[in-house]
Amino acid sequence: MLSQLLVILDLLLWMTPCSSSNQIDPSVLNTDSPQVRCKDIDVFYPFGYYSAALSGFELLCSTSESGNFSMLPLKSGTYRIKSISMEGEVSIYAGAIAGRCDDRKTMNRGLGLINLDGSPYTLSDRRNKLTAIGCDVMVLLRGSRGPGNLMSGCVSFCDTPGNVINGSCSGLGCCQAAIPKGIKSFDIEFKRIEDDLVFCSAGQRNGDNTSLRGHSSNLCSQAFLVDQEEFEFSQANLSSILPDETNHVVVLDWTIGNERCEEARRMPTYACKQNSQCYDSPSGVGYHCNCSTGYQGNPYIEDGCQDVDECSDQKTNPCAGHCINIPGNVSCICPSGTSGDGRKQGSGCKKIFHLELALGNIFQLSLVRFAQRWRMILLIIYRGNVLEKVMDIMIDCETH
Ligand SMILES: *[C@@H]1O[C@H](CO)[C@@H](O)[C@H](O)[C@H]1NC(C)=O
Ligand SMILES: *[C@@H]1O[C@H](CO)[C@@H](O)[C@H](O)[C@H]1NC(C)=O
Ligand SMILES: *[C@@H]1O[C@H](CO)[C@@H](O)[C@H](O)[C@H]1NC(C)=O
Ligand SMILES: *[C@@H]1O[C@H](CO)[C@@H](O)[C@H](O)[C@H]1NC(C)=O
Ligand SMILES: *[C@@H]1O[C@H](CO)[C@@H](O)[C@H](O)[C@H]1NC(C)=O
Ligand SMILES: *[C@@H]1O[C@H](CO)[C@@H](O)[C@H](O)[C@H]1NC(C)=O
Repeated sequence: MLSQLLVILDLLLWMTPCSSSNQIDPSVLNTDSPQVRCKDIDVFYPFGYYSAALSGFELLCSTSESGNFSMLPLKSGTYRIKSISMEGEVSIYAGAIAGRCDDRKTMNRGLGLINLDGSPYTLSDRRNKLTAIGCDVMVLLRGSRGPGNLMSGCVSFCDTPGNVINGSCSGLGCCQAAIPKGIKSFDIEFKRIEDDLVFCSAGQRNGDNTSLRGHSSNLCSQAFLVDQEEFEFSQANLSSILPDETNHVVVLDWTIGNERCEEARRMPTYACKQNSQCYDSPSGVGYHCNCSTGYQGNPYIEDGCQDVDECSDQKTNPCAGHCINIPGNVSCICPSGTSGDGRKQGSGCKKIFHLELALGNIFQLSLVRFAQRWRMILLIIYRGNVLEKVMDIMIDCETH
Protein backbone atom coordinates (compact mmCIF):
# COMPACT_ATOMS: atom_id res chain seq x y z
CA MET A 1 0.00 0.00 0.00
CA LEU A 2 2.74 2.40 1.01
CA SER A 3 4.83 1.40 -1.98
CA GLN A 4 1.87 2.00 -4.25
CA LEU A 5 1.40 5.43 -2.78
CA LEU A 6 5.08 6.13 -3.34
CA VAL A 7 4.79 5.09 -6.96
CA ILE A 8 1.87 7.44 -7.43
CA LEU A 9 3.77 10.25 -5.73
CA ASP A 10 6.74 9.45 -7.88
CA LEU A 11 4.64 9.64 -11.01
CA LEU A 12 3.06 12.87 -9.87
CA LEU A 13 6.53 14.29 -9.42
CA TRP A 14 7.43 13.26 -12.93
CA MET A 15 4.32 14.69 -14.35
CA THR A 16 4.21 18.08 -12.64
CA PRO A 17 3.10 20.57 -15.22
CA CYS A 18 6.14 21.64 -17.15
CA SER A 19 5.73 25.40 -16.95
CA SER A 20 8.73 27.37 -18.01
CA SER A 21 10.27 28.86 -14.92
CA ASN A 22 13.45 30.11 -16.51
CA GLN A 23 12.38 33.12 -18.48
CA ILE A 24 14.91 35.81 -19.02
CA ASP A 25 14.20 38.70 -16.71
CA PRO A 26 12.73 41.44 -18.94
CA SER A 27 14.55 44.09 -16.94
CA VAL A 28 17.84 43.08 -18.54
CA LEU A 29 16.41 43.81 -21.97
CA ASN A 30 17.33 47.15 -23.35
CA THR A 31 13.92 48.28 -24.54
CA ASP A 32 14.54 52.01 -24.63
CA SER A 33 16.23 52.32 -27.99
CA PRO A 34 14.82 51.07 -31.29
CA GLN A 35 18.26 51.72 -32.82
CA VAL A 36 19.85 49.06 -30.68
CA ARG A 37 21.66 46.44 -32.72
CA CYS A 38 22.65 43.20 -31.10
CA LYS A 39 25.54 42.10 -33.25
CA ASP A 40 25.61 38.42 -32.27
CA ILE A 41 23.63 37.15 -35.29
CA ASP A 42 22.72 38.30 -38.80
CA VAL A 43 19.30 39.92 -38.75
CA PHE A 44 17.32 40.96 -41.82
CA TYR A 45 13.80 42.21 -42.48
CA PRO A 46 11.08 40.97 -41.75
CA PHE A 47 13.08 40.45 -38.53
CA GLY A 48 14.28 43.43 -36.56
CA TYR A 49 14.79 44.71 -33.05
CA TYR A 50 11.74 46.15 -31.38
CA SER A 51 9.67 48.26 -33.80
CA ALA A 52 12.03 47.80 -36.77
CA ALA A 53 10.36 44.49 -37.60
CA LEU A 54 7.30 43.29 -39.45
CA SER A 55 4.62 42.56 -36.88
CA GLY A 56 5.33 39.21 -35.23
CA PHE A 57 9.05 39.19 -36.12
CA GLU A 58 10.24 41.47 -33.31
CA LEU A 59 13.46 40.51 -31.58
CA LEU A 60 14.85 41.78 -28.32
CA CYS A 61 18.44 42.52 -27.46
CA SER A 62 19.49 41.29 -24.06
CA THR A 63 22.50 43.13 -22.73
CA SER A 64 24.53 41.74 -19.89
CA GLU A 65 28.13 41.38 -18.80
CA SER A 66 28.38 37.98 -20.47
CA GLY A 67 27.46 39.51 -23.83
CA ASN A 68 24.62 40.93 -25.87
CA PHE A 69 22.24 38.32 -27.21
CA SER A 70 19.38 38.49 -29.68
CA MET A 71 16.27 37.06 -28.09
CA LEU A 72 13.00 35.75 -29.48
CA PRO A 73 9.99 36.57 -27.30
CA LEU A 74 7.39 33.79 -27.37
CA LYS A 75 4.38 32.92 -25.28
CA SER A 76 6.38 30.36 -23.29
CA GLY A 77 9.40 32.54 -22.63
CA THR A 78 12.18 34.54 -24.22
CA TYR A 79 14.68 32.45 -26.11
CA ARG A 80 18.23 33.16 -27.19
CA ILE A 81 18.57 32.93 -30.97
CA LYS A 82 21.34 30.92 -32.62
CA SER A 83 20.63 31.92 -36.21
CA ILE A 84 17.98 33.07 -38.67
CA SER A 85 17.89 31.92 -42.27
CA MET A 86 16.31 33.58 -45.29
CA GLU A 87 15.00 30.14 -46.29
CA GLY A 88 12.55 30.26 -43.39
CA GLU A 89 14.19 28.89 -40.26
CA VAL A 90 15.09 30.27 -36.84
CA SER A 91 17.26 28.22 -34.49
CA ILE A 92 16.83 28.91 -30.79
CA TYR A 93 18.34 27.53 -27.58
CA ALA A 94 15.56 25.89 -25.65
CA GLY A 95 16.79 23.36 -23.12
CA ALA A 96 15.03 20.31 -21.74
CA ILE A 97 11.29 19.94 -21.24
CA ALA A 98 11.74 17.68 -18.24
CA GLY A 99 14.57 15.81 -16.62
CA ARG A 100 15.52 14.13 -13.37
CA CYS A 101 18.31 12.12 -11.87
CA ASP A 102 17.38 9.24 -9.52
CA ASP A 103 19.40 10.57 -6.65
CA ARG A 104 17.67 13.93 -6.82
CA LYS A 105 13.92 13.88 -6.64
CA THR A 106 13.42 17.22 -8.25
CA MET A 107 12.73 17.91 -11.83
CA ASN A 108 14.87 20.10 -14.01
CA ARG A 109 13.07 22.16 -16.53
CA GLY A 110 14.38 24.30 -19.31
CA LEU A 111 12.44 26.39 -21.75
CA GLY A 112 11.73 23.26 -23.76
CA LEU A 113 7.96 23.40 -23.58
CA ILE A 114 7.68 25.89 -26.40
CA ASN A 115 4.39 27.63 -27.14
CA LEU A 116 4.19 29.33 -30.53
CA ASP A 117 0.54 30.33 -30.45
CA GLY A 118 -0.04 33.76 -31.91
CA SER A 119 3.36 33.83 -33.61
CA PRO A 120 4.42 33.33 -37.25
CA TYR A 121 6.40 30.22 -36.19
CA THR A 122 5.77 26.49 -36.16
CA LEU A 123 8.05 23.68 -34.92
CA SER A 124 10.12 22.34 -37.80
CA ASP A 125 9.12 18.71 -38.30
CA ARG A 126 11.97 18.33 -40.77
CA ARG A 127 14.70 19.32 -38.29
CA ASN A 128 13.46 18.53 -34.77
CA LYS A 129 13.02 15.19 -33.05
CA LEU A 130 11.21 14.43 -29.83
CA THR A 131 13.96 12.81 -27.77
CA ALA A 132 14.01 10.87 -24.50
CA ILE A 133 17.07 9.69 -22.64
CA GLY A 134 16.77 7.11 -19.89
CA CYS A 135 16.79 3.43 -19.00
CA ASP A 136 13.07 2.98 -18.37
CA VAL A 137 11.16 5.90 -19.78
CA MET A 138 8.36 6.75 -22.10
CA VAL A 139 7.65 10.10 -23.69
CA LEU A 140 4.40 11.12 -25.35
CA LEU A 141 3.79 14.36 -27.18
CA ARG A 142 0.34 15.68 -27.91
CA GLY A 143 0.52 18.62 -30.25
CA SER A 144 -2.16 20.98 -31.43
CA ARG A 145 -2.57 22.34 -34.89
CA GLY A 146 -5.81 24.19 -35.26
CA PRO A 147 -8.64 22.19 -33.69
CA GLY A 148 -6.95 18.80 -34.12
CA ASN A 149 -4.66 16.85 -31.82
CA LEU A 150 -1.62 15.02 -33.08
CA MET A 151 0.45 12.49 -31.18
CA SER A 152 3.91 11.04 -31.24
CA GLY A 153 6.14 9.22 -28.79
CA CYS A 154 8.82 6.67 -28.01
CA VAL A 155 10.22 4.47 -25.24
CA SER A 156 13.78 3.89 -24.13
CA PHE A 157 15.23 1.02 -22.12
CA CYS A 158 18.62 -0.17 -21.12
CA ASP A 159 20.08 -2.57 -18.54
CA THR A 160 23.28 -0.73 -17.78
CA PRO A 161 24.57 2.49 -19.29
CA GLY A 162 27.64 0.58 -20.45
CA ASN A 163 25.58 -1.26 -23.04
CA VAL A 164 24.16 1.74 -24.86
CA ILE A 165 25.43 2.64 -28.29
CA ASN A 166 27.02 6.04 -28.59
CA GLY A 167 25.51 8.04 -31.42
CA SER A 168 22.39 5.87 -31.71
CA CYS A 169 18.95 6.93 -30.52
CA SER A 170 16.90 3.91 -31.41
CA GLY A 171 15.51 2.78 -28.05
CA LEU A 172 18.61 1.67 -26.18
CA GLY A 173 19.15 4.40 -23.59
CA CYS A 174 17.85 6.99 -26.00
CA CYS A 175 14.88 7.20 -28.33
CA GLN A 176 13.67 9.69 -30.89
CA ALA A 177 10.34 10.20 -32.58
CA ALA A 178 9.21 12.42 -35.41
CA ILE A 179 7.01 15.35 -34.52
CA PRO A 180 3.79 16.13 -36.39
CA LYS A 181 3.91 18.77 -39.11
CA GLY A 182 3.00 22.35 -38.35
CA ILE A 183 2.37 22.24 -34.59
CA LYS A 184 2.44 25.43 -32.55
CA SER A 185 2.07 24.06 -29.03
CA PHE A 186 2.15 20.72 -27.30
CA ASP A 187 1.86 18.79 -24.05
CA ILE A 188 4.32 16.18 -22.88
CA GLU A 189 3.84 13.09 -20.78
CA PHE A 190 7.18 11.79 -19.60
CA LYS A 191 7.31 8.92 -17.15
CA ARG A 192 8.64 5.56 -16.12
CA ILE A 193 6.92 2.62 -17.69
CA GLU A 194 4.43 1.34 -15.12
CA ASP A 195 4.96 -2.11 -13.63
CA ASP A 196 1.62 -3.71 -14.45
CA LEU A 197 2.76 -5.19 -17.70
CA VAL A 198 2.95 -8.91 -18.46
CA PHE A 199 6.48 -10.23 -18.49
CA CYS A 200 7.58 -13.21 -20.47
CA SER A 201 10.99 -14.54 -19.62
CA ALA A 202 12.89 -16.81 -21.96
CA GLY A 203 14.26 -18.86 -19.02
CA GLN A 204 11.05 -19.41 -17.06
CA ARG A 205 7.90 -20.65 -18.71
CA ASN A 206 5.65 -20.07 -15.70
CA GLY A 207 5.96 -16.37 -15.36
CA ASP A 208 8.34 -14.39 -13.30
CA ASN A 209 7.58 -12.01 -10.49
CA THR A 210 10.62 -9.88 -11.04
CA SER A 211 10.83 -7.18 -13.56
CA LEU A 212 13.26 -7.58 -16.43
CA ARG A 213 14.46 -4.12 -15.59
CA GLY A 214 16.84 -3.55 -12.76
CA HIS A 215 17.01 0.00 -11.48
CA SER A 216 20.49 1.33 -11.63
CA SER A 217 20.92 4.17 -9.23
CA ASN A 218 22.24 7.53 -10.24
CA LEU A 219 20.77 7.40 -13.70
CA CYS A 220 19.33 10.49 -15.28
CA SER A 221 16.38 10.76 -17.60
CA GLN A 222 15.32 13.69 -19.70
CA ALA A 223 12.98 14.61 -22.51
CA PHE A 224 13.45 17.41 -24.99
CA LEU A 225 12.98 18.55 -28.55
CA VAL A 226 16.20 18.95 -30.47
CA ASP A 227 17.51 19.74 -33.92
CA GLN A 228 18.70 16.27 -34.90
CA GLU A 229 21.82 17.75 -36.48
CA GLU A 230 22.75 19.29 -33.14
CA PHE A 231 22.47 16.25 -30.89
CA GLU A 232 24.50 13.10 -30.65
CA PHE A 233 23.64 10.68 -27.89
CA SER A 234 26.45 9.56 -25.66
CA GLN A 235 26.67 7.25 -22.67
CA ALA A 236 27.62 10.30 -20.61
CA ASN A 237 24.11 11.73 -21.10
CA LEU A 238 22.70 9.05 -18.76
CA SER A 239 24.80 10.12 -15.81
CA SER A 240 24.13 13.84 -15.72
CA ILE A 241 21.86 16.56 -16.92
CA LEU A 242 23.74 19.59 -18.05
CA PRO A 243 23.12 22.49 -15.70
CA ASP A 244 22.67 24.92 -18.55
CA GLU A 245 18.99 24.72 -19.28
CA THR A 246 19.27 26.21 -22.72
CA ASN A 247 21.54 23.61 -24.28
CA HIS A 248 19.20 22.11 -26.86
CA VAL A 249 18.85 23.76 -30.23
CA VAL A 250 15.31 23.74 -31.59
CA VAL A 251 14.45 24.88 -35.11
CA LEU A 252 11.34 26.90 -35.84
CA ASP A 253 9.90 27.49 -39.31
CA TRP A 254 8.83 31.07 -39.96
CA THR A 255 6.37 32.12 -42.63
CA ILE A 256 4.61 35.27 -43.75
CA GLY A 257 0.89 35.32 -43.09
CA ASN A 258 -1.48 32.38 -43.00
CA GLU A 259 -2.41 32.50 -46.68
CA ARG A 260 -0.95 30.65 -49.60
CA CYS A 261 0.68 32.60 -52.45
CA GLU A 262 -2.33 32.67 -54.73
CA GLU A 263 -4.46 34.40 -52.13
CA ALA A 264 -1.64 36.53 -50.69
CA ARG A 265 -0.85 38.13 -54.07
CA ARG A 266 -4.24 39.82 -54.07
CA MET A 267 -3.77 41.31 -50.60
CA PRO A 268 -2.31 44.73 -49.72
CA THR A 269 -0.04 43.02 -47.20
CA TYR A 270 1.66 40.90 -49.89
CA ALA A 271 5.30 40.83 -48.77
CA CYS A 272 7.23 39.84 -51.91
CA LYS A 273 8.77 42.95 -53.51
CA GLN A 274 9.99 43.47 -57.09
CA ASN A 275 12.14 40.83 -58.84
CA SER A 276 11.05 38.19 -56.37
CA GLN A 277 8.78 35.19 -56.36
CA CYS A 278 6.33 33.78 -53.87
CA TYR A 279 6.31 30.17 -52.84
CA ASP A 280 4.10 28.26 -50.46
CA SER A 281 5.82 27.28 -47.25
CA PRO A 282 6.44 23.52 -46.84
CA SER A 283 5.05 23.66 -43.28
CA GLY A 284 1.53 23.98 -44.70
CA VAL A 285 0.70 27.56 -43.66
CA GLY A 286 1.88 30.88 -45.05
CA TYR A 287 4.38 31.69 -47.75
CA HIS A 288 7.93 32.80 -48.42
CA CYS A 289 9.50 35.10 -50.94
CA ASN A 290 12.60 34.40 -52.96
CA CYS A 291 14.57 36.58 -55.32
CA SER A 292 13.98 35.56 -58.93
CA THR A 293 16.72 33.73 -60.80
CA GLY A 294 19.50 36.17 -61.65
CA TYR A 295 18.80 38.33 -58.58
CA GLN A 296 19.92 38.06 -54.97
CA GLY A 297 19.30 39.81 -51.69
CA ASN A 298 16.29 40.39 -49.50
CA PRO A 299 12.95 39.89 -51.30
CA TYR A 300 11.03 41.46 -48.39
CA ILE A 301 12.32 45.03 -48.83
CA GLU A 302 12.04 47.53 -51.71
CA ASP A 303 14.94 47.06 -54.16
CA GLY A 304 16.10 44.18 -51.97
CA CYS A 305 16.59 41.79 -54.89
CA GLN A 306 19.62 43.10 -56.77
CA ASP A 307 20.82 41.95 -60.14
CA VAL A 308 23.64 39.42 -59.92
CA ASP A 309 26.64 40.30 -62.09
CA GLU A 310 27.19 36.81 -63.42
CA CYS A 311 30.11 38.04 -65.53
CA SER A 312 32.23 39.27 -62.61
CA ASP A 313 33.59 35.88 -61.65
CA GLN A 314 35.59 34.20 -64.38
CA LYS A 315 34.99 30.77 -62.83
CA THR A 316 31.21 30.91 -62.45
CA ASN A 317 30.64 33.10 -65.49
CA PRO A 318 28.24 31.13 -67.72
CA CYS A 319 29.70 32.38 -71.00
CA ALA A 320 32.25 30.69 -73.19
CA GLY A 321 32.60 33.88 -75.21
CA HIS A 322 32.18 37.53 -74.21
CA CYS A 323 29.96 38.00 -71.19
CA ILE A 324 27.59 40.96 -70.97
CA ASN A 325 25.55 41.33 -67.79
CA ILE A 326 21.89 42.24 -68.33
CA PRO A 327 19.19 42.54 -65.64
CA GLY A 328 18.37 39.08 -64.38
CA ASN A 329 20.49 37.30 -66.94
CA VAL A 330 23.59 37.47 -69.11
CA SER A 331 24.09 37.82 -72.80
CA CYS A 332 26.85 35.68 -74.26
CA ILE A 333 28.46 36.84 -77.48
CA CYS A 334 30.81 34.70 -79.55
CA PRO A 335 33.93 36.44 -80.86
CA SER A 336 34.08 36.88 -84.65
CA GLY A 337 35.27 33.82 -86.49
CA THR A 338 33.32 31.61 -84.03
CA SER A 339 29.68 30.67 -83.70
CA GLY A 340 27.34 29.02 -81.16
CA ASP A 341 25.10 30.17 -78.31
CA GLY A 342 28.17 31.32 -76.37
CA ARG A 343 27.25 29.43 -73.18
CA LYS A 344 29.46 26.93 -71.37
CA GLN A 345 26.37 24.80 -70.74
CA GLY A 346 25.23 25.16 -74.34
CA SER A 347 27.00 24.89 -77.64
CA GLY A 348 29.73 27.38 -76.63
CA CYS A 349 31.70 29.19 -79.32
CA LYS A 350 33.20 27.00 -82.05
CA LYS A 351 35.73 28.17 -84.62
CA ILE A 352 34.13 28.33 -88.02
CA PHE A 353 37.09 29.63 -90.09
CA HIS A 354 38.02 26.57 -92.19
CA LEU A 355 34.51 25.38 -92.67
CA GLU A 356 33.39 28.81 -93.87
CA LEU A 357 36.21 29.05 -96.33
CA ALA A 358 35.49 25.61 -97.73
CA LEU A 359 31.78 26.27 -97.91
CA GLY A 360 32.47 29.68 -99.42
CA ASN A 361 34.62 28.18 -102.17
CA ILE A 362 32.00 25.65 -103.14
CA PHE A 363 29.32 28.30 -103.05
CA GLN A 364 31.32 30.75 -105.16
CA LEU A 365 32.16 28.07 -107.70
CA SER A 366 28.58 27.01 -108.09
CA LEU A 367 27.50 30.65 -108.31
CA VAL A 368 29.92 31.21 -111.20
CA ARG A 369 28.68 28.08 -112.93
CA PHE A 370 25.13 29.05 -112.25
CA ALA A 371 25.70 32.54 -113.69
CA GLN A 372 27.45 31.12 -116.75
CA ARG A 373 24.55 28.81 -117.48
CA TRP A 374 22.05 31.61 -117.04
CA ARG A 375 23.99 33.83 -119.44
CA MET A 376 23.76 31.15 -122.08
CA ILE A 377 20.09 30.59 -121.49
CA LEU A 378 19.42 34.33 -121.50
CA LEU A 379 21.40 34.67 -124.67
CA ILE A 380 19.40 31.91 -126.32
CA ILE A 381 16.16 33.45 -125.17
CA TYR A 382 17.28 36.88 -126.29
CA ARG A 383 18.51 35.64 -129.60
CA GLY A 384 15.38 33.58 -130.06
CA ASN A 385 13.33 36.66 -129.40
CA VAL A 386 15.23 38.71 -131.95
CA LEU A 387 14.83 35.86 -134.43
CA GLU A 388 11.12 35.75 -133.74
CA LYS A 389 10.82 39.52 -134.17
CA VAL A 390 12.68 39.37 -137.48
CA MET A 391 10.48 36.50 -138.60
CA ASP A 392 7.35 38.48 -137.53
CA ILE A 393 8.40 41.40 -139.66
CA MET A 394 9.12 39.09 -142.54
CA ILE A 395 5.69 37.47 -142.19
CA ASP A 396 4.18 40.91 -141.92
CA CYS A 397 5.84 42.00 -145.08
CA GLU A 398 4.74 38.91 -146.91
CA THR A 399 1.09 39.42 -146.01
CA HIS A 400 1.09 42.89 -147.42
C1 LIG B 1 26.36 45.46 -25.50
O1 LIG B 1 25.63 46.57 -25.95
C2 LIG B 1 25.97 47.77 -25.29
C3 LIG B 1 25.06 48.85 -25.84
O2 LIG B 1 23.74 48.48 -25.73
C4 LIG B 1 27.41 48.10 -25.54
O3 LIG B 1 27.77 49.27 -24.83
C5 LIG B 1 28.28 46.94 -25.08
O4 LIG B 1 29.62 47.19 -25.42
C6 LIG B 1 27.84 45.65 -25.75
N1 LIG B 1 28.58 44.56 -25.19
C7 LIG B 1 29.16 43.65 -25.95
C8 LIG B 1 29.88 42.55 -25.24
O5 LIG B 1 29.12 43.69 -27.18
C1 LIG C 1 8.84 -13.90 -6.22
O1 LIG C 1 10.22 -13.69 -5.88
C2 LIG C 1 10.54 -13.92 -4.52
C3 LIG C 1 12.01 -13.60 -4.30
O2 LIG C 1 12.51 -12.75 -5.26
C4 LIG C 1 10.21 -15.35 -4.12
O3 LIG C 1 10.46 -15.58 -2.74
C5 LIG C 1 8.77 -15.66 -4.42
O4 LIG C 1 8.51 -17.01 -4.14
C6 LIG C 1 8.45 -15.33 -5.89
N1 LIG C 1 7.05 -15.51 -6.14
C7 LIG C 1 6.57 -16.20 -7.19
C8 LIG C 1 5.11 -16.27 -7.30
O5 LIG C 1 7.32 -16.71 -8.02
C1 LIG D 1 30.76 6.10 -25.47
O1 LIG D 1 31.09 7.40 -25.04
C2 LIG D 1 31.58 7.48 -23.70
C3 LIG D 1 31.76 8.93 -23.38
O2 LIG D 1 30.54 9.55 -23.38
C4 LIG D 1 32.89 6.69 -23.59
O3 LIG D 1 33.34 6.71 -22.26
C5 LIG D 1 32.62 5.26 -24.03
O4 LIG D 1 33.82 4.52 -24.04
C6 LIG D 1 32.01 5.23 -25.42
N1 LIG D 1 31.66 3.86 -25.75
C7 LIG D 1 31.99 3.29 -26.90
C8 LIG D 1 31.53 1.89 -27.12
O5 LIG D 1 32.62 3.90 -27.75
C1 LIG E 1 25.46 14.40 -24.16
O1 LIG E 1 26.82 14.08 -24.07
C2 LIG E 1 27.67 14.77 -24.96
C3 LIG E 1 29.06 14.20 -24.81
O2 LIG E 1 29.44 14.13 -23.49
C4 LIG E 1 27.61 16.26 -24.62
O3 LIG E 1 28.40 16.97 -25.54
C5 LIG E 1 26.17 16.73 -24.72
O4 LIG E 1 26.08 18.08 -24.37
C6 LIG E 1 25.28 15.89 -23.82
N1 LIG E 1 23.90 16.29 -24.02
C7 LIG E 1 23.04 16.30 -23.05
C8 LIG E 1 21.67 16.68 -23.40
O5 LIG E 1 23.31 15.99 -21.90
C1 LIG F 1 15.60 30.72 -53.61
O1 LIG F 1 16.64 31.33 -54.34
C2 LIG F 1 17.93 30.78 -54.10
C3 LIG F 1 18.95 31.60 -54.86
O2 LIG F 1 18.42 32.17 -56.01
C4 LIG F 1 17.92 29.31 -54.52
O3 LIG F 1 19.16 28.74 -54.23
C5 LIG F 1 16.83 28.58 -53.77
O4 LIG F 1 16.74 27.24 -54.21
C6 LIG F 1 15.49 29.26 -53.96
N1 LIG F 1 14.52 28.59 -53.12
C7 LIG F 1 13.33 28.22 -53.57
C8 LIG F 1 12.45 27.53 -52.60
O5 LIG F 1 12.97 28.45 -54.72
C1 LIG G 1 18.68 33.85 -69.83
O1 LIG G 1 18.81 33.90 -71.23
C2 LIG G 1 18.83 32.62 -71.85
C3 LIG G 1 19.10 32.82 -73.34
O2 LIG G 1 18.33 33.87 -73.86
C4 LIG G 1 17.51 31.92 -71.62
O3 LIG G 1 17.54 30.62 -72.18
C5 LIG G 1 17.29 31.79 -70.11
O4 LIG G 1 16.04 31.21 -69.85
C6 LIG G 1 17.37 33.17 -69.46
N1 LIG G 1 17.31 32.99 -68.02
C7 LIG G 1 16.51 33.71 -67.28
C8 LIG G 1 16.56 33.42 -65.82
O5 LIG G 1 15.76 34.57 -67.74
